Amino acid sequence: MNTQTAINEPVVKEPAIRAEQTASQTGAKPSQPPRTAATPIRRTDLEREAVLDPTLTFDSALLQAYKPGISKSIFLTGATGFLGVYLLSELLQHTQATIYCLVRAADQAAGMNRLQRKLTANAMWQEAYRNRIIPVIGDLAEPLFGLTPALFQELSEQIDVIYHNGAIVNFVQPYTALKASNVDGTQEIIRLATQSKIKPLHYISTVFVFGARKHFDGRIIYEDNDLDESEELLMGYFQSKWVAEKILTQARARGLPVFVFRPGLIIGDSQTGIWDNTDDFLCRIIKGCIQLGARPTLEAAWDLAPVDYVSKAIVHLALQQESTKAPSTKTAFHLINSSSLHFSELFNWIQMFGYPIQEVPLKDWQVKLTAQRAKIQANALAGLTLLLARRRSSTEHLTLPELFEHGRAPQFDCQNTLESLVGTSIACPPIDQKQFSQFLAYFIQIGFLEAPPTPFADLQDSLTQNPTRLPTTDNEAR
Ligand SMILES: NC(=O)c1ccc[n+]([C@@H]2O[C@H](COP(=O)([O-])OP(=O)(O)OC[C@H]3O[C@@H](n4cnc5c(N)ncnc54)[C@H](OP(=O)(O)O)[C@@H]3O)[C@@H](O)[C@H]2O)c1
Repeated sequence: MNTQTAINEPVVKEPAIRAEQTASQTGAKPSQPPRTAATPIRRTDLEREAVLDPTLTFDSALLQAYKPGISKSIFLTGATGFLGVYLLSELLQHTQATIYCLVRAADQAAGMNRLQRKLTANAMWQEAYRNRIIPVIGDLAEPLFGLTPALFQELSEQIDVIYHNGAIVNFVQPYTALKASNVDGTQEIIRLATQSKIKPLHYISTVFVFGARKHFDGRIIYEDNDLDESEELLMGYFQSKWVAEKILTQARARGLPVFVFRPGLIIGDSQTGIWDNTDDFLCRIIKGCIQLGARPTLEAAWDLAPVDYVSKAIVHLALQQESTKAPSTKTAFHLINSSSLHFSELFNWIQMFGYPIQEVPLKDWQVKLTAQRAKIQANALAGLTLLLARRRSSTEHLTLPELFEHGRAPQFDCQNTLESLVGTSIACPPIDQKQFSQFLAYFIQIGFLEAPPTPFADLQDSLTQNPTRLPTTDNEAR
């Protein structure tokens, strides 16, 4: 199909983490009071947001005509992102389909260029893929993605299945700044899924749709739990993902086949050591502590799942739904690492790699961090000081790291995922020191980290094992 006519102005990519911004800086209406990501939105406000667009129709004849089957045309959003490029690569490897990728770019050539560069940066590009990838130039934040109605109609006839992975991933911006891409974009995805013919919709969510204050009592969250507790979701990003998922639940109740995949914290590739997501929260924690020369004492464990595991599992589970024999009855899947990693162990590895980092009480670390607040160039965490150090009345005056301490963080069960992966070789590997050294070596190689002053003896080994591929400088690709 010809997507050349659907040209939008290119949109500047939001870095995953930004310095604190006022609502007016982030595009919210100036009349609204400034909100930060942590400003609690009342449950009633969020529930009012979480309503299917009334212009969406669920035609009963189309719903009845739907039958699962092998897809020839796939629509994927967010393929230029960290997880999205892995989903694209998995879909290219495990299907014969043509993949229509929604991309923000000036034109189709620039869109293809962005996708090719991202695949290349992650050691995934093959020339044979060129004919199977079709960039669709558009924006999730625009009605019909900014496409003409005729082009949207053509797309809705062509596409057989949707993987909706694109979203602004930002822990600082408020809900109002994320709504257009993360929530309104999902409504437009449902429009595509229901227009002309019914298409199964695979949605990439996050386990932190269960990130409400009341979940921080160490409870176990099962994949089939209801999304009923929206009050005091900790960030605008969690709120936007909760609202999008809640809307999708209503679409499912109207008959649309909707499957939800909820990753936890995603880290780099366990095979190649590439971790092409340096704007990410965890990458900033690592770099920021190295820059500070200090890390907090924190009684917390993290479930870190490598991106290759997350993407392989999602595509495998989604393709199971194409089976005409026995499609699964499961609709929600958690993509987490069952072997959690203690925060102090992670930092012991970083110290053993050669970075001098002092362990200090959390409160002292927060004071050190807050002193860096204005020094955006000097510390990767400068823009996150409020998020990491502010006491909030909505969390009984605990700071965000304290909320995750002493077993308060929710535990995520992943039985649906594990059961559905039985008989495959797809498994989430435990993260060990060798693996983590590979990531650190990669960060040095791409210039994200400086080499440690007294390198770990095995650094040279890690560097030579690591492929010499550099990540995309994305703006050049536009
Ligand atoms: N990374 C994690 O640890 C993690 C954990 C749990 C869940 N997730 C979920 O996984 C998905 C992917 O996350 P990620 O870490 O890969 O994020 P990412 O690297 O920031 O990628 C986000 C992707 O979404 C696209 N996008 C954002 N706004 C858009 C818009 N208005 N129109 C079109 N495309 C838009 C971006 O396009 P541009 O390149 O043009 O900006 C990019 O391709 C998200 O849904 C996220 O909620 C991620």
